[in-house]
Amino acid sequence: ACSRLVLGIETSCDDTGAAVLDETGQILGESLHSQKEVHLRTGGIIPTVAQQLHREHIERVVQQALERSGVEPSRLAAVATTVKPGLALSLAVGLRFSQTFARQHNKSFIPIHHMEAHALTVRMLQPVAFPFLVLLVSGGHSLLAVARGVDDFLLLGHALDEAPGDTLDKVARRLSLIKHPQCSTLSGGQAIELLAKDGDRMRVPFRTPMGQTYDCCFSFAGLRNQINMLIKKKEAEEGIEQGDLLSCVNDIAASTQHTVASHLAKRTHRAILFCKANGLLPSHSPTLVLSGGVASNQYIRKALTIITDTTGLRLLCPPAKFCTDNGVMIAWNGVERLREGKGILSPDVDVSYEPKAQ
Ligand code: KG4
Ligand code: ZN
Repeated sequence: ACSRLVLGIETSCDDTGAAVLDETGQILGESLHSQKEVHLRTGGIIPTVAQQLHREHIERVVQQALERSGVEPSRLAAVATTVKPGLALSLAVGLRFSQTFARQHNKSFIPIHHMEAHALTVRMLQPVAFPFLVLLVSGGHSLLAVARGVDDFLLLGHALDEAPGDTLDKVARRLSLIKHPQCSTLSGGQAIELLAKDGDRMRVPFRTPMGQTYDCCFSFAGLRNQINMLIKKKEAEEGIEQGDLLSCVNDIAASTQHTVASHLAKRTHRAILFCKANGLLPSHSPTLVLSGGVASNQYIRKALTIITDTTGLRLLCPPAKFCTDNGVMIAWNGVERLREGKGILSPDVDVSYEPKAQ
């Protein structure tokens, strides 16, 4: 009964999310409004549109999470909100709303780093001790880090150009996969995973990125260039308009998915060897946590399983609903910070959002 309660609010990209959690990580109430369908129709996120949608929905989403939890605002211990990284216009909506709310109800405010929240969500579901290795792959990010504490992360590698989910979304758009009957409501990554099942990756092989670069960073722009050139060539062979390719769409999907998986697996392998060589992971039950929207891809999970099996790591991947953006992961990060007394601000402190991570 004396467990402290946290309201978490997320608006960094295209999901308006809110949740109320108790200190043990039990979800008392949550609500999520996704803008994915709108952005799917316009072929990508238009920041001003995302901002407008956050504005239209944030109040209702927060109210709904509170109502479902049966918790009066007065009973909350703190409000935790994503302040970085993300789209500036989207972040601003959540921050303004949260600070007004926190001041109104005189609650502590906890600024949250979106990627740190992704990284620690697994600890809400099961005990995972620090330090552990984490691979985060979504439409906006791609990074490898050692999580050493609630506010202590060692970044091993990051995206040098675009994130893997972004690449998959762009390839899907280039192939007009949204016109495929089975794919009309799927994200680019989901569409490619589905079509890849009936494809032969060997018929249109792509080079795995950064074969000669000895670090843990990621690059997908070159791969997308390879894919675009192949699509152009096939379209010319078929003598058809851009985006109406009929043959080998499944093969391209399979090869794209394989090359993304291979790049992620190779970088992760390097990171594991680096951690082992430098004693960065515990010798007992070292763990790799895989999260982010792209982590729901079964082929990519399989590729990473091979890496963790051969290096003796345990692979943990939260269920899809906890891999993607939501208010729950933000509230959980608030709980973790509250427990350790890290980054808890009075409602009167002015906090600004930061589109970039640091
Ligand atoms: O984490 P998320 O919901 O949002 C952010 O990007 O922050 O991730 C969405 C991304 C999209 O790029 C989408 O294409 C990708 O995750 N994705 C997938 C799959 N499901 C979603 N990529 C590959 N395979 C999937 N099954
Ligand atoms: Zn995210």
